[in-house]
Amino acid sequence: MKTVEEIKLDKNKSQYLYLQLYEEVKKLIESNIIEPHVKLPTIRYLASKLGVNNVTVVNAYNLLEAEGYIYKKMGSGSYVQDIRSKEVERLILDEETNMNFANLDIDIDINNKEKIVNFASTAPMPDLFPVDDFKLVLNQVLDRDKGRAFTYQESQGYFNLRNAISNYLSDFNIKTNEGNIHIISGAQQGIDILSKALINYGDIVFTENPTYTGAIAVFKSRSARIVEIPINKDGIDLIDLEYKLKSFKPKFIYVMPNFQNPTGYSYSVAKKKKLIELATKYNFYIIEDDYLSDLDFFTQSKNTLKSLDTSDKVVYIKSFSKIFMPGLRLAFMIIPKSIYNEVLSAKHISDISTSGLIQRAFHLYLEKGIWQKHIRNVNTIYTERYKTIVKSVRKHMPKEVKYILPQGGLSFWFSLPSGYSANELYRLCLKNDISIAPGSLFDIWQRDTHFFRLSIASIHNDEIDYGIAKLAHIINYFLKNFQKDRISIDLYNNLF
Ligand SMILES: Cc1ncc(COP(=O)(O)O)c(C=O)c1O
Repeated sequence: MKTVEEIKLDKNKSQYLYLQLYEEVKKLIESNIIEPHVKLPTIRYLASKLGVNNVTVVNAYNLLEAEGYIYKKMGSGSYVQDIRSKEVERLILDEETNMNFANLDIDIDINNKEKIVNFASTAPMPDLFPVDDFKLVLNQVLDRDKGRAFTYQESQGYFNLRNAISNYLSDFNIKTNEGNIHIISGAQQGIDILSKALINYGDIVFTENPTYTGAIAVFKSRSARIVEIPINKDGIDLIDLEYKLKSFKPKFIYVMPNFQNPTGYSYSVAKKKKLIELATKYNFYIIEDDYLSDLDFFTQSKNTLKSLDTSDKVVYIKSFSKIFMPGLRLAFMIIPKSIYNEVLSAKHISDISTSGLIQRAFHLYLEKGIWQKHIRNVNTIYTERYKTIVKSVRKHMPKEVKYILPQGGLSFWFSLPSGYSANELYRLCLKNDISIAPGSLFDIWQRDTHFFRLSIASIHNDEIDYGIAKLAHIINYFLKNFQKDRISIDLYNNLF
């Protein structure tokens, strides 16, 4: 079989027809018989060719899309995804990957073979973790609470911690109380349980594109239909958003208004306000993933959507992973009253409760003011790295590479001239001991792009200039020796 039209479905089989069709198309894509970016037959045409209902083809295409095998272009149809980028994703996530070293025939100093220069990861380095301070509060909890520290905790979270968090939030103009706060085992769990509580098969979810990979994976796992909204340097494209709101009714929109991952861009206050207005007008929730607003190196404004939310439309998720210790698995949410019970029940089904011992220790950590000391410390360290990377990028980066500098956070988003493949650049960099994150990782449909992200989370200050100088050499080589027209579609050109 060479084409989708030649597929044969067996109506006598107990397996649903749409699943048979899904499996057959998937095989054709996986074995590369149909190539990336080839257009699939229209729904009506394929349904009549196979002698099935349109709905059978719609369901099969939806499933293929949810699993990243195909992507849709508005008003144009369905296309085969470049699934080779899934391989890139695995590589980047696997920190233990054994790299092959192949020198480039270019004039760069590759003395430091000991270790990869890691611009890819946004995970903080263990030497930033306040281990001694945390040992102190852990011991105090054990002495104070004894066995009670190891009982089941309420699903909502340890009362004293919720109380301390609601007090802490008043410094950020977020007015709430412990009754609306919900402790979770990391922001990833928050996104997952919200999806479990709110999404039914085929429901629509809006997200920025590009966006955080972990959220895309959750929405796809719930078989949500994802509608992408472009992001500009001052936040989400509100014109596109309102246009799509007239055709679709999303359950929610997932956004990162401060130092968005991967672009590093932040929404203007006017855009934040307008987004809340639209949520009220069109009646949808906004999930605000605030993973980094603490790292504002210039204004310290910490201007969250939640602080502007007078209609209780914003679900606020705050992770401590990037600014504290990811392995604690600790975060919290502020949940609108209208969905509180559904979310609480989804959390209970998921893991009953977040570790009581960790919650109690973190409560002491906040109460004793050690948290404030820690935040000041990480801000100093990241500000130093921020200044270094900005200086190095200005000094070394080829002029063909475009970027807009964020005012804080950990991510920097770069654009190669259009047509160049960031997946190819990624592979070339890896062979030369530099790790970057190609844009396909953050695209809803994993499409290859000419964008890539650099992060300062997993790199020491004194490695940055060396790393950027070397990356700049590699890019110069890449632009001279690699083919330009590797990507047929130009994504995100609105970003610059
Ligand atoms: C934007 C964003 N949200 C959420 C998470 C997950 O955070 P947590 O470790 O709290 O689950 C990440 C991790 O990379 C992230 O980048």
